[in-house]
Amino acid sequence: MGRGVGFGKVILFNEHFVVYGIPAVVSAVGAKTTALVERKPGSGYELRDDRPESPGYKAEKLQQQKESLDIMLKFMNVDTQHHHYTITLGGDLIAASGVGASAASCAAIARAFSEELNLNFSDERVNEVAYEGEKGYHGTPSGIDNTAATYGGLIWYRREGSAQRMERMRLRKPVEVVMGNTGKVADTKLVVGGVKERKEREPEKYGRLFQEAEQLVVNARKQLEVFNLEKVGAYMNENHQLLQEIGVSSPELDALVKLARDTGAIGAKLTGTGRGGYMVALTPGHELQDRVADEIERHGSQTLRTVIGV
Ligand code: MEV
Repeated sequence: MGRGVGFGKVILFNEHFVVYGIPAVVSAVGAKTTALVERKPGSGYELRDDRPESPGYKAEKLQQQKESLDIMLKFMNVDTQHHHYTITLGGDLIAASGVGASAASCAAIARAFSEELNLNFSDERVNEVAYEGEKGYHGTPSGIDNTAATYGGLIWYRREGSAQRMERMRLRKPVEVVMGNTGKVADTKLVVGGVKERKEREPEKYGRLFQEAEQLVVNARKQLEVFNLEKVGAYMNENHQLLQEIGVSSPELDALVKLARDTGAIGAKLTGTGRGGYMVALTPGHELQDRVADEIERHGSQTLRTVIGV
């Protein structure tokens, strides 16, 4: 039996912009996806998906999940003609939009096959396989999600042509955040495609917004490094506004962001694909974290209480 894990993630700055080579900041979250792979005589494979989920997520992603698995099996040269594989997904990461659920499962599956077939994959190789797997879900992934899923920690990420560049970032100490789930499943391929279309249609507007996003993340990095959380929170708010302007927020996300801010979060924004999925609020200290999460739950949304910068 081969086992593997992949980290869930939260993008703190510049989802979407990152697809076009603008830097972004991502952190792993405490929750993980696990994969088990068992090889038996026969052929083909069977997937058992035991991950906890946001209602409807697994059914909606089933076809993309199958495409992703087929791409990864081919990329790893797994022989499904002469062996049968059972792949079982589990762990405590809720399968939902915005937390890197697909990337975490891809990294976990790559690691589990590496162990079962003695392939000795390095982290770099796991990341390459997970990136291929992400193509089943994203079409043109920037690579940020698989990088976070593979390596964990806090990462400054930039895509340069086909190269994926990551730098580890350190925080003075871990910081509490709350993620709030709209409960709506988002299709990354569609939402990323929509940004591309609008960017082509309105090059001037988008050119300006993309420049602002680049300047913003450079400033936000400095504030993360000097641990000025008030300013980091303010940049998260600004980043949410830029994401609204490129058309990837939604009334549900905006409402959760507002609720978190009104309850004392020092910054809040949508995270990941948008249009549904999760938002993230910066809530240093357990007291503030609990207050914001409790309030979001009181309004009927599921939350993830976690820390960034571990
Ligand atoms: C999705 O988690 C992040 C996006 O920026 C897509 C990508 O980077 O591939 C929306």
